Amino acid sequence: MAPVATNTETAAVNKTQSLKESNAKMFNPFYSPAIADDGDETYVHAQYKPFFPDLSWPPLEEVEVTERGLLADPEKKSLLTAAKKVKHYTPTIGTELSGIDLRQLSDSQKDELALLVAERGVVFFRDQEINIHEQLDLARHFGPLHKHATTPIPKAGIEEVHVVYNDHSRRPDPASFSKLELWHSDVTYEIQPPSVTSLKVITGPEYGGDTLWASGYALYSGLSPGFQKYLEGLKAVHSAVAQAEGARAAGLPVRRQEIETVHPVVRVHPATGWKSVYVNPGFTRRIVGVPKAESDAILNFLFHQIAENVDSQVRFQWEPNSIAFWDNRVVMHSATFDFWPATRHALRATPHGEKPISVEDYEEQTGKIAKDRQLEVWKKQGLESQLNGKKYNSKARGYND
Ligand code: SIN
Repeated sequence: MAPVATNTETAAVNKTQSLKESNAKMFNPFYSPAIADDGDETYVHAQYKPFFPDLSWPPLEEVEVTERGLLADPEKKSLLTAAKKVKHYTPTIGTELSGIDLRQLSDSQKDELALLVAERGVVFFRDQEINIHEQLDLARHFGPLHKHATTPIPKAGIEEVHVVYNDHSRRPDPASFSKLELWHSDVTYEIQPPSVTSLKVITGPEYGGDTLWASGYALYSGLSPGFQKYLEGLKAVHSAVAQAEGARAAGLPVRRQEIETVHPVVRVHPATGWKSVYVNPGFTRRIVGVPKAESDAILNFLFHQIAENVDSQVRFQWEPNSIAFWDNRVVMHSATFDFWPATRHALRATPHGEKPISVEDYEEQTGKIAKDRQLEVWKKQGLESQLNGKKYNSKARGYND
């Protein structure tokens, strides 16, 4: 005879059941690709609406990458003199060039663009007629193209394109994710994560839908010398597991087996030689070889610096035909979801970079000393003598309003 459940046991089973059901319904839109499509086939960019083909790709193989920024004129004269205006958004990060048609860039201007993006973290252009095929060709100048394992490609079927699309048919649920975890650098779990990545907004809201970027160089520069040194010796695990599980939870295909990869916590950009903190809330899970509590505390501190230090951030207000190029090796970014029910549609091209290189390996391989960007900038501005060998003032000075 089957045992009869008591009322308490039945209540417990029911509770577990309902928890399971509510968990099944809860998913983080950052990890579960947005599935929006209002079904409007007359929309001018309908062929670039999201599509999730059920394909199976083999694991990525190592690819050779030439660092184009190293081939550039350090003054970037051919690019900067071609621009009508060069506008720096903040001292640390973000520059807009106007008066340039990206379809007309020479190879040396492309190399200089790579160097400018490496130095400024993100570079913006407006009113660009460049189409997605030309955008992919430009991206190929920087490295072989990455194909994302879970995010949508366009209905037109170009596998190297990552589609960002939201319309009135999907209202992002602010209850299901935190703003902190939206901060990320793209696919850092890959063995050769992306370098000079571009995103073009082809349809956007009149206002809202901004993107923010935060500088990994500035995050490094803002730390005390002892802590910088400590982080330079560490490595961290970056994981694709949550993203793959998020796709499965949403009933979507995972086109390549998810992986986890260990990268240095501080990497050196091969073109600038500057040190940058390389962890992000989206994909970095733990620091290797330290107690879990220590790993949690360090990552939590760094993640909060990324999200909260407004001096290291830039925010871009898109218009249709704006395009941003960011160096995923040295910046993190986060999107805003304030524009529902408007449509926001953008296409991304994502070249692979080199395997992230630690300070020790960079110095050994190049014979050069890796640098702190902020100190280099101050040196260039002739401010070295005013620092008196110290990065911080000993007198506390606050700001209140
Ligand atoms: C991305 O993470 O590549 C997209 C950012 C955005 O939608 O602004």
